[in-house]
Amino acid sequence: MSTPPRQDQRKRVTLTKLAEMRALGEPIVMITAYDHPSALVVEQAGVDIVLVGDSAANNVLGYPDTVPVTVEELLMLTRAVRRGLKAPLLIGDLPFGSYEASDSLAIETAQRFVKEAGCDAVKLEGGGASAERAQAIVRAGVPVMGHVGLTPQTATMLGGYRAQGRTAARAQQVLDDALALQEAGCFSLVFEAIPAEVTDAIMTRMEIPVIGIGAGSSTDGQVLVLHDLLAIHDDFQPKFAKRFAAVKEEMLRGVTAYADEVRGRRFPAPEHTYGIAPEELERFRAALAPIRR
Ligand code: KIV
Repeated sequence: MSTPPRQDQRKRVTLTKLAEMRALGEPIVMITAYDHPSALVVEQAGVDIVLVGDSAANNVLGYPDTVPVTVEELLMLTRAVRRGLKAPLLIGDLPFGSYEASDSLAIETAQRFVKEAGCDAVKLEGGGASAERAQAIVRAGVPVMGHVGLTPQTATMLGGYRAQGRTAARAQQVLDDALALQEAGCFSLVFEAIPAEVTDAIMTRMEIPVIGIGAGSSTDGQVLVLHDLLAIHDDFQPKFAKRFAAVKEEMLRGVTAYADEVRGRRFPAPEHTYGIAPEELERFRAALAPIRR
């Protein structure tokens, strides 16, 4: 197991550092986080990039998918993550409806993530018009990460949550989107749910760091959703999400044990209870007015 450098020794991850890692063939580790305790954990684990993904919608806010989550909700979660991070690059995710309509809307939303939540960069989904929005945001001074392949915000248009680029024509579409975003000035891209061989072919055209999720192993780095890799939920697990821990099982074990001990009057025990000096207790008892019946 590789040991991450001590927290206080780590330098802040910059866009230049990510480009260097790509050039040196050093894998880039990206992960999602949606709250302060998770931010402390991923910081300590030494990851390179943290995304406060719009997947917070279904992972922590109880929405059925990413579409309903608002800018305000994501800003609140992103600020909590910012307070827990030092070294990793922090990326805010522009939610559905917060950037598509115009360049000025896209710039305004992106700048809110930088000014109000301390993000280093933002992410948006899709090629086409999204590439124009990405270019406008970059020109306004905010670094942008693009996202192609399966783009959950527009999953309905893509025929549902399924791998993309599985025909020659659809693979060409993924390549076109990736190239458009690269030309728009994105510093990095996410490739989601794309056959590994298609990724391999597209990677020969990429000049910026590409982070994969369900896109094989030839990308410059990998991203997983924290709740998937820790199995904090056990109802749905995408094919690409390996479980590295079973946190829901452990949470359930702990909460069930707590409930059992309260019901069995085994908790709290003396060691969980505050004391009072005997003479103070005596004085207090003496002062207690008798109960009138
Ligand atoms: O919102 C999210 O979690 C994402 C990752 C899958 C990259 O966009």
